[in-house]
Amino acid sequence: MHKAITVTKDTFWVGVNDYETDLFESLWPLPQGVAYNAYVVLGEKTAAIDTVKGPKFDDYLDKVAETLAGRSLDYLIVNHMEPDHAGLTAQLKRVYPGLKIVGNAKTAPLLKGYHGIEEDVVQVKDGESLDIGGHPLFFYTIPMVHWPESMVTYDAATKTLFSNDAFGGFGAHEGGIFDDEKPRPRWEDEMLRYYAAIVARYSNLVQGALKKLKGLEIKNIYPAHGTLFRTDIGQVAELYDRWSRHDTECGVVVAYGSMYGNTRHMAEAVCGGICEGGVKNVRLYDASRSDMSLILRDIWRYKGLVLLGCTYNTVLFPTVAALCEKLINRMPKNRLLGIAGSYSWSKGALAALRAFADAVKLERVGPEVEVFTAPTPADLEQCAELGRNMAKAVSAGQQ
Ligand code: FEO
Repeated sequence: MHKAITVTKDTFWVGVNDYETDLFESLWPLPQGVAYNAYVVLGEKTAAIDTVKGPKFDDYLDKVAETLAGRSLDYLIVNHMEPDHAGLTAQLKRVYPGLKIVGNAKTAPLLKGYHGIEEDVVQVKDGESLDIGGHPLFFYTIPMVHWPESMVTYDAATKTLFSNDAFGGFGAHEGGIFDDEKPRPRWEDEMLRYYAAIVARYSNLVQGALKKLKGLEIKNIYPAHGTLFRTDIGQVAELYDRWSRHDTECGVVVAYGSMYGNTRHMAEAVCGGICEGGVKNVRLYDASRSDMSLILRDIWRYKGLVLLGCTYNTVLFPTVAALCEKLINRMPKNRLLGIAGSYSWSKGALAALRAFADAVKLERVGPEVEVFTAPTPADLEQCAELGRNMAKAVSAGQQ
């Protein structure tokens, strides 16, 4: 990835791979790295669309200079102010002093705050355009996908949507950057993990953004992270529509927290019941050892969720409580929830899971199971019954 790549007429990918950042936003692991995609469009004037994360300045700048081939850079379009995309704004302006920075009304205070930039800012409204000569660039605000100032840029000449975080995914480019250069599971899993971790909280606003962009004729979707889509735009638009409508597949996530293995036995009995009920997609996660983004990804994918936790210092086991907190923040809908808790010298876990269930407002599947110390065969049969009931419920109405 040492050279710029032509991605459509007069348009170049000038992004970078990042394998050094271990945690995205200091939260989410990046076992396959991450790509910051940025672009340059050459018309009578020249425009860059987004930059990349700060430490990658030289790599990015070399590619920008390569595409410009001696021309100056006239515009930087800032689709989103989060520093993984706008982090190099001030440095870029120092290299190209005549640079004008394009953003919307909500971009301006962030531009001033992060970079101290108040001059040479071109403020655009939703739906306005900037013709750089041969490439009429239209701007559409998509608030909260993923920040208030987020917007997309649409090049009416090449019918390309530069979508920033929308349609983005984790994972660095491994050779090819396009959807037709890698198998679908390779990009879909990391795209869904990105969606569940970063975007899912704003799903209703994603629906709003999709409706706003529906009338555009789009041949290419080029996001600011992950795979570039040029082959089957419909499939990726459909995925985003489904994820933001909380449409799910037939399957169940079982997530548990267990100190000494007793709650794990309960979780395994639930999984056995799900399997007996004929559902093949079962994902069993130890909330203490599995990364939260993987659990969230599969919760976003599947219809059923069973949470089990032991009691710890009179309350719900911390790693399960942390998962509950992340789910409350994202408010998943149209899913089915089962809960089970265990205790020894103090109750607490099941009551906390009940409070979570009330807050998250998901349809419940029973029985609720509460176990004292180690589960008896009768307790485990109750857990299996919960699994069988969940299997029946998630299978209803699905193939
Ligand atoms: Fe990839 Fe919201 O920044």
